[in-house]
Amino acid sequence: MPLSPAFDVAALREQFPLLCAQPALVYLDNAATTHKPRAVLDAERRFYETSNANVHRSVHRLAHAATDAFENARSTIARFLNAHDAREIVFTRGTTEAINLVAQSWGRSQLHAGDEIILTMLEHHANIVPWQMLAAERGLTLRVVELQPDGSLDLAQFRQLMGSRTRLLAVTALSNAIGTRPPLREMIDTAHRHGARVLVDAAQAMAHDIIDVQDLDADFLVFSGHKVFGPTGIGALWARGDLLAGMPPWQGGGEMIERVSFSGTTYQAPPYRFEAGTPPMAQAVGLAAALDWLGALDRPALAAYEDMLRATLEHGLAALPGVRVVGTAPGKGPLVSAAFEQAHPFDVAQFLDARDIAVRVGTHCAQPLMETLQLPGTLRISLCAYNTVTEVEALLSALADTLEWLQ
Ligand SMILES: Cc1ncc(COP(=O)(O)O)c(C=O)c1O
Repeated sequence: MPLSPAFDVAALREQFPLLCAQPALVYLDNAATTHKPRAVLDAERRFYETSNANVHRSVHRLAHAATDAFENARSTIARFLNAHDAREIVFTRGTTEAINLVAQSWGRSQLHAGDEIILTMLEHHANIVPWQMLAAERGLTLRVVELQPDGSLDLAQFRQLMGSRTRLLAVTALSNAIGTRPPLREMIDTAHRHGARVLVDAAQAMAHDIIDVQDLDADFLVFSGHKVFGPTGIGALWARGDLLAGMPPWQGGGEMIERVSFSGTTYQAPPYRFEAGTPPMAQAVGLAAALDWLGALDRPALAAYEDMLRATLEHGLAALPGVRVVGTAPGKGPLVSAAFEQAHPFDVAQFLDARDIAVRVGTHCAQPLMETLQLPGTLRISLCAYNTVTEVEALLSALADTLEWLQ
């Protein structure tokens, strides 16, 4: 496949110290977490070496440098997502915390007994359990969009679920278990026509898709840094400014207050109102470096490259006896789940590990989905920018040997 000069996978791999140090490793577990390019490691190190101080507190020179670096990181994230304003970005520990923030702040203040939340069968536990907890507390009803046989969402059923009681649609942009990309724009428009808000879980999509929050027109969007070449312990919530302005704080502490007295406390404006305590400063700087790094790649060429890897993988799997690709929705992401007629996926993954091929096996934090598919779990191969055709071929060859051995 011809690649544009802006996307050269060999040169790109050289930017990943772990991959350079372990050339025999075939890492195909990128949906769990991605490796980090040198630009991200350097940015974190530079922060500690040149600007380390607590943010938004002291007046000394170093504190100003740290605060500038932290707030510049917020602006970088806003630019990457095409947000209207950097104040629409709230730093969180990741996707899970961002969804809990929306549930505990927006959800608790806006939703009442009898209100309905629509989720989909594709959701990760992080986009199910916070809503279940809220539903139990508030007397809400959760409704679930079912799947078509190919793993795409049943949109006719989705439209039937939408009603006057629907207050929120919470939907993934890319399924971490079977790779489906729901038709977000269409679903968001439908939800808005019914007066419902929409939360998009972009944990998986960030590393692969161009995300433009204005174009998407959602109300909340969440992601984790570590799945998009950034550090662990950092992620973000983007929310429309008018919604954030009306949301109460969910965690109390330093930084999020305007004035504290024992007779009462007032809170800062967003986003600070939602960032209690010392934030992950170096991680925020590292995340901004990751997004700058990713943003500098030729994204359409990268998307085409990843899709070529996925197609090569699926083509190879189809030729292996007793292997079934789970989830064949058109336009799926570079993530392939496989089930085996004769072998347990755990055994297969262990054989692959013996060849230093890293894949994920299990229910992928999507137990309701696996139950619906009547599978104990799958073997998941998740690709990203630094993977190669040679790695896909190594996996296919190891799988062929493994399945022969296990039969
Ligand atoms: C689609 C999706 N949502 C949410 C999460 C949770 O992300 P984190 O554990 O980084 O908070 C994941 C992690 O695998 C995911 O794939």
